[in-house]
Amino acid sequence: MTEIFRAGIQSISHGQREAAESIGMTRWQFRRRIILPQAVGVIIPDIGNQFSAMQKDSAQVSAMGIWEMTYRANRFARQDSKFLEMFIAAALFYWILTIVSSWWRAFLNDAWHMLMNDHEIIHVENLHKWFGLLHVLKGISFSVAAREVLVLIGRSVSGKSTLLSCLNFLEMPSAGTVTIAGQSVTTGPGLRLDTQKMISMRLSTGMVFQEFNLFPHMTALENIIEGLLTVKKWPKDKAIPIGMKYLEKVGLQDKRDVHPIRLSGGQKQRVAIARALAMETKVMLFDEPTSALDPELIGEVLDVMKQLALEGTTMIVVTHEMGFACDVADRIIYIDRGKIVEEDSPEQIFNHPKDERPRAFLEPIRKIQQM
Ligand SMILES: Nc1ncnc2c1ncn2[C@@H]1O[C@H](COP(=O)(O)OP(=O)(O)OP(=O)(O)O)[C@@H](O)[C@H]1O
Ligand SMILES: [Mg+2]
Repeated sequence: MTEIFRAGIQSISHGQREAAESIGMTRWQFRRRIILPQAVGVIIPDIGNQFSAMQKDSAQVSAMGIWEMTYRANRFARQDSKFLEMFIAAALFYWILTIVSSWWRAFLNDAWHMLMNDHEIIHVENLHKWFGLLHVLKGISFSVAAREVLVLIGRSVSGKSTLLSCLNFLEMPSAGTVTIAGQSVTTGPGLRLDTQKMISMRLSTGMVFQEFNLFPHMTALENIIEGLLTVKKWPKDKAIPIGMKYLEKVGLQDKRDVHPIRLSGGQKQRVAIARALAMETKVMLFDEPTSALDPELIGEVLDVMKQLALEGTTMIVVTHEMGFACDVADRIIYIDRGKIVEEDSPEQIFNHPKDERPRAFLEPIRKIQQM
């Protein structure tokens, strides 16, 4: 136990102390605001693991360790001669105790992350994705704060769509940790996937695709409320007002009974955005939402997205619309061959890129803007 506490405290780098001092924090403030939150975050999972190990190996923790329990079961069984029943009851009790303690541990872990990272909606740590032998994402790590608009840019086949797909588990990450709104899923060789958690995390993100992917046999309104009816199991009379609210938000209330085939590309994409919004997720993911549109229809979709950004929607957007990125992004990440090469404000990335690759990628766009 002592070792766990010591490791937790020592996990805070010396540089952080210097940074705290450099902004004038006192030693007490540094301990309370910097060391404590981080150290507890490191300590809680370890203490949980330690507790589970102790519970399995010893009777000291709760007087209900396995040896103690079989001893008691044996004693009661001798009194009543009900050996089988007593041992089944003991095994059942031990099994329930183990499950409850592991749930409790997971709950504490998630609650802690939610408490400490209330400003951080998404955290991605060392994410890898292989398609067979093709290593597409090579250790991606980043965070997104609540109400932040993050734009991902990069050359074709650099892995941008794959990254978005991994964030809502349309593609399963091969390794790494994805945390969304305090819930984490870690994947990797030999790790068992928590499918329930993955499904509940998927409900935290709404995705808008390049090709709209509307259900062609349903009207605009039916498309929007489909998730509410079938996934959230809402009754129709509760879902319809929500559907209409989002149809109005994208300016298409008069198209409620129209099928996708009768909508323009821009209108289709706006319905697709309303469909994702209606699920009232924590984060919206956009994968090149305008690149399948005719140039004259791009503006209406970008306007909806700008409005969402103004209203404080947390968004991750893959786009080649650099004007939009410049206007709306709080931060831009440049990805090259599955790695984050540069991450900065739009102003810095566009005007003073540090790396050669974003510089070369953005140069033609800068030239057009200067013309
Ligand atoms: N389901 C899949 N199975 C096998 N390979 C895939 C799959 N999805 C993507 N890839 C491969 O992963 C690599 C990255 O593709 P991805 O679509 O993520 O790139 P991108 O950066 O979004 O490109 P673009 O800008 O052209 O959309 C490509 O080589 C692609 O062929
Ligand atoms: Mg793509």
